[in-house]
Amino acid sequence: MDQFTYRDGRLYCEGVPVSRIAEAVGTPVFIYSAATLRDHYAKIAEAFAELRPIICYSIKSCGNLHVIRLLAERGAGMDVVSGGELYRAVRAGFRQGGEYRPGKIVFAGVGKTDAEINEALDAGIGWFNIESEAELANLIAIAQRRGVTTRAALRVNPDVDPKTHRHTTTGKRETKFGVDLERARNVFNEFGRQPHVRLTGIHLHIGSPVNAIDAYTEAIARTLELIGDLRRDGFTIDTLDVGGGFRADYEGPGSPTARDYAARIVPLLRGQGLQVILEPGRTISANAGILLTRTVHVKQSGDKQFAIVDGSMTELIRPVLYDAYHFVWPAEPGPGFVPDTRWRGINFPGTRIVDVVGPVCETGDFLARERPLPPIRRGDLIAVFTAGAYGFVMASHYNARPNAAEVLVDGDDFRVIRRRETYADLTAEEE
Ligand code: LLP
Repeated sequence: MDQFTYRDGRLYCEGVPVSRIAEAVGTPVFIYSAATLRDHYAKIAEAFAELRPIICYSIKSCGNLHVIRLLAERGAGMDVVSGGELYRAVRAGFRQGGEYRPGKIVFAGVGKTDAEINEALDAGIGWFNIESEAELANLIAIAQRRGVTTRAALRVNPDVDPKTHRHTTTGKRETKFGVDLERARNVFNEFGRQPHVRLTGIHLHIGSPVNAIDAYTEAIARTLELIGDLRRDGFTIDTLDVGGGFRADYEGPGSPTARDYAARIVPLLRGQGLQVILEPGRTISANAGILLTRTVHVKQSGDKQFAIVDGSMTELIRPVLYDAYHFVWPAEPGPGFVPDTRWRGINFPGTRIVDVVGPVCETGDFLARERPLPPIRRGDLIAVFTAGAYGFVMASHYNARPNAAEVLVDGDDFRVIRRRETYADLTAEEE
C-alpha cells in the first residue's frame, strides 16, 4: 500500500496534489511519501517482531539524508556498501531516541578499500559483511595494526535461484558475492578463531527483488545446516543476516507482504539463538516514491505516438537497464480516473498507445513503452510510479543534465529534501 491516490481526477501524495509540487519545485522531481515509508517500515517490524530483528534499511535503494533520518527515528539500522553510504548514514545523525547508534550499521560490498575499512572502524559500525578470504585477511590485518576488535559476518551463497533479473541475481554459486557453503567452512577453520575480527555471523542476500518466498526458506534452511555444523565444530555463531530483496508492487498490487515473508521465515529462525538482521530496501522505498515529469512535446512517428517528457534515463535508468516495468499515468487526467485505476489500466475516450520517452540522445532513453494513455498534451504532468527505490540513487549527469529535486510529503505539507542542481553545480568541480 502507498499514499499516492487519485481524487477527483488529480493525483495526490498524501494530502498534497502533486501538481502543486510541480508548480513550486519544477520537474522532473522525485516525490516521496513519509507516511508510506513509515508504514512499510512498521509492517516489517511488526511482522518479524517475535525475532526482535535489527532492520537495516538498505540505503542504496534511496539514500537521501531525510529518508534515512525518518527511518532511523523509527529504530532502523542501516545497510551500507561504500564509504559514501557510510558517510551518509553517519551524517544523517544516525540516532535513535537522540542517541548515536553506529552499532546498527552493517557494511557489505566486495571491494572495500583500506580507507573505507578505516572509516568504518572509526565510526564503530556493528558488522562487516565479508565477501571473500582476501577481504577478511585484509580486515584482520588492519584491525590488528590498529589494536582494535570488530565483528564480522561471512556472506555465503546458498546456491538457490531467486528467479529474478540476471543483473540482480546474487545467491547462486558463481557470483562475485560471498563464498559457497563448502568454502565457508574453510574460511571459519582458517580465520574463525582470531581475536581482532570476531567472525560470529553469517550473511545472505540471494537477489532482489525475489519473487519466490521459497527461495528464502531454502536458502535459510541450507544456511542453518552450516551454522549447526560450525557450532558443533566449536565456533560461536550468534548472528544471521538474511539480506534484502523483498518485493515491491511494480506491475500491480499483491506482492507478498511482510507478513507473508514472516509467516515462512520466522518459524525457521525461532529459538535458534541468533540475532537476526534484515536488509530491506525497495520494499520500504519503491512504492513510497514517484518521479513526476512534464510533457515537453507530443510526437507522431509512423504509427507510434511519443510523449517526450522532461524526465529521462538520467533520473530513472531501470526501464532500459532491467527491462523494468513502471506504471506511468497522467497526474491530472480529470474526473473518471478512479483511485485504483493505475493498476488496472483505463478506458478513456481517445486512449492512445504511447511511448513515454526522455530527451536524452539514446534510443534506450524511455520510461515506458506501448502504454494505453488518455490524450496527452504538451505541458501535461506524467507520473512514473514505484520510483522511490533505485531511482534518484542511480541518477547520472549524462547529456549534462542537472540532477532532479527530491521532495518529501508529510500529511498536508511538503518540503524540498534535495534542491534541484543548477548548471553551476555541473561545472563546479572543473572550474
Ligand atoms: N542487501 C544486500 C547485500 C544487497 O546487495 C541489496 C541490494 C539489498 C540488501 C537490498 O535489496 P532490496 O531490498 O532493495 O531489493 N538496482 C537494482 C537493484 C540492485 C540491488 C542490489 N542489492 C534495481 O533497480 O532493481
